[in-house]
Amino acid sequence: MREEIRKISQEEMLLQQSFAQKVKDHPNRPQTYYIVTYGCQMNAHDSEKLAGMLRQMGLTPAADRREADFVLHNTCCIRDNAERKALGNVTWLKEVKKDRPGMLIGVCGCMIQQPVMAEKLLKQYPFIDIAFGTGNLYRLPEYLYEALTQKERIIRVDANASTLFEGLPVCRENSLKSYITVMYGCNNFCSYCIVPYVRGRERSRAADDIVREAESLVAAGAKEIMLLGQNVNSYGTDSENGVSFAQLLRRVSKTGIERIRFMTSHPKDLSDALIDEMAVNPVIAPHLHLPVQAGSNRILQMMNRRYTREHYLEKVRKLRSAIPHLGLTTDLIVAFPGETEEEFLETVSLVEEVRYDSAYTFIYSPRKGTRAAEMPGRIDPEVASERIERLIAVQERITGEILSGMNGQTVHVLVEGTSRRRATQLTGKSERNINVNFNGSECDIGKIIPVRITGAGSNTLRGEKEEE
Ligand code: 5AD
Ligand code: SF4
Repeated sequence: MREEIRKISQEEMLLQQSFAQKVKDHPNRPQTYYIVTYGCQMNAHDSEKLAGMLRQMGLTPAADRREADFVLHNTCCIRDNAERKALGNVTWLKEVKKDRPGMLIGVCGCMIQQPVMAEKLLKQYPFIDIAFGTGNLYRLPEYLYEALTQKERIIRVDANASTLFEGLPVCRENSLKSYITVMYGCNNFCSYCIVPYVRGRERSRAADDIVREAESLVAAGAKEIMLLGQNVNSYGTDSENGVSFAQLLRRVSKTGIERIRFMTSHPKDLSDALIDEMAVNPVIAPHLHLPVQAGSNRILQMMNRRYTREHYLEKVRKLRSAIPHLGLTTDLIVAFPGETEEEFLETVSLVEEVRYDSAYTFIYSPRKGTRAAEMPGRIDPEVASERIERLIAVQERITGEILSGMNGQTVHVLVEGTSRRRATQLTGKSERNINVNFNGSECDIGKIIPVRITGAGSNTLRGEKEEE
């Protein structure tokens, strides 16, 4: 079944703006807000849009959620623990609300978009005032207005998550490093993954809109842009504009931005054109997050990843020969249904072979409605924990070896601020996305500067500013 992809019309946006004004003028409106964000960068960026709308309605940020008039939880449902954490925090807030009856509690995002969730919330969480899914995020002004003027609770889930937002106000967390969404949704249906169900089908934003957003960020002082999408490598394949992801990168790199990153890349869609563009374009950081998930061909097939271990390793070989200093990172899942010890060891050997800078490791978590949730061969939780610990130990050793091998090299750090531990230390990320701490003065904050590496911790580098 193909969902209809809907671009939010100008009229709808104007309607929301009029709701925003009504909220602003309402005598009993909340004065302050606090947003709790779970999950990936996509969600972090959605929260920046939610904050943008709340500011438009006249609300200001509260320093602590206990003091906020409106607390909004932007949730994730990728694994069971993400969901439990969000629901645990919402329940904790119920106690706070007892002392502050006027407080509004909201829950939105991926968790709410799941089919059964709205009913569950209505029944089990009566203290939640507002809930809405990913597809209707842009209607927050309307929902807040309804919550202020009606007695009933506002639970709104639009079954079609395939909307394309354009022109929402954004309140950015970081003015140096900014996110731009290039595409929404995912068509891949990896058998373990809930994302295609809660984020809808792939839909790419127009390249002109993306470039315009990048230009305005550069004008506002941004140094780095992170292009976001569930599967950026298939950017443009759903639209008529004929711009590929490699071409989009080139266009964004000409806006005057100093550094570009992007995520996430699906290995099956990683094109030679993209590799070539990364190799020749100095604005694109030599870092690629390329989730492999597993090292065994049987498991990869069960996961519906549509590449083999050999295909993946071939892409890595091509990447490394085109971009010699490339830093690779990945995602790994252990204890997929039916995974044998030998199959797990194939993941370990792949990690040894590729030598990632770092890896996110997860224990498989069954998600209702996905194909893998119906597969036989659940792995005993103790075996799963033991496997993930072994895998983490291998990756930590490799990370340590890579970092200590960088001694004496010069890296280029976008200086983000002073270190949390020591005020005389500056901190930032290298082109390969590795944290670097070094002595320096605050006037370097916001610049990309050369730093000579002198030592390494478990996942950070130490260095000294190089005089230019
Ligand atoms: N269980 C465990 N990990 C998962 N991921 C996605 N779905 C699941 C699941 N059901 C992981 C994948 C993906 C990352 C964002 O989360 O590794 O790349
Ligand atoms: Fe989930 Fe696979 Fe899509 Fe990534 S590519 S969001 S893992 S379905």
